[in-house]
Amino acid sequence: MTYTASWRSPSNIALIKYWGKHSLQLPRNPSVSFTLSACHTTMTIMVSPNAAQPNLTVKYDGQAKPSFEPKINSFLSILKERFPWLADAAVEIDSHNSFPHGAGIASSASAMSALALCLMDIHDQINANIGDHDELWWQNVSEIARIGSGSACRSVFPVISIWGETPAAKESNDLYAIPWEHQLATVYKDYCDAILIVSSEEKSVSSSAGHKLMDSLPYAATRYSEAYKNIESLCKSMQVDNELDQFISIIESEALQLHALMMSGKDPYILMEPGTLSIIKEVWRFRKTSGIPVCFTLDAGPNVHLLYPSKHSTDILEWINTTLTQYCAEGRYILDRVGSGPVKIA
Ligand code: DP6
Repeated sequence: MTYTASWRSPSNIALIKYWGKHSLQLPRNPSVSFTLSACHTTMTIMVSPNAAQPNLTVKYDGQAKPSFEPKINSFLSILKERFPWLADAAVEIDSHNSFPHGAGIASSASAMSALALCLMDIHDQINANIGDHDELWWQNVSEIARIGSGSACRSVFPVISIWGETPAAKESNDLYAIPWEHQLATVYKDYCDAILIVSSEEKSVSSSAGHKLMDSLPYAATRYSEAYKNIESLCKSMQVDNELDQFISIIESEALQLHALMMSGKDPYILMEPGTLSIIKEVWRFRKTSGIPVCFTLDAGPNVHLLYPSKHSTDILEWINTTLTQYCAEGRYILDRVGSGPVKIA
């Protein structure tokens, strides 16, 4: 018997950054992210339990990708206790990212959350569970996604989610993310994210290596306590519509801190490119002259995410096209916005 599941799951952009981990992908500080919409992974998995030849095949757009297999294999091994049928199953995974390969956009959050969803779905089929996807179900998905890639646990909830224990959100904990949309002021519910592709090269330093760098950084403890403070202030400001100044100041400080940490180790590295800095300066100039509350955030890479309220979309698009595309690789950018979370396809 072969079981099949297909899910689409979005990427997310962290506002308070997860940078530093311990044990099995447990965070050193709480983080919060917007769930995106246009940037997502669509994944189908086929599982034959009790296979004569248990194995794993990973494809991307229908083409074999053996280089992805070791990471997924070790993820599946960890999950065997939870999903005993994995022990002797033949598993085939095929996925597709909506964002172009080589856009410098990390796919681990969308891919690992899609994989967690597919595995939970297959588990339900094997065990003939036909109940609703209740709160506990989504918690389980988020926890499984976390084991695959920390930030992936935040991708499973609509609009915004918090991962890691913080007084800012009741029920928050280190094992899985929790949804936070119900607390959010209206302005943030359809916030926009224009992703400026400054470089389309693959990331030169993996997130895992970056997290590891924190273990030996003299500033690590200070950074973690900053993140704890920042998430509390941010969550307060995001519950009202007119606290955008506070929101902007925390978001940009978090982005710059992330990169400052990477530059401070014994083996430092710089992931910003000259274009990244030029865009940051343009953002500061434009915000001052136009009065439009646009701000930037950064991932562990050179691309810049411009965050702004949707009512300013027309002005922002014009500004991107006239002023910012000169700093983008082949003029490329992706217009994204907060989204409604994963979708079951089949
Ligand atoms: C800078 O989730 O990619 O994007 O848990 O090792 O898979 P692993 O790391 P990952 O780290 C994400 C780091 C970040 C910030 C964030 O998304 O919070």
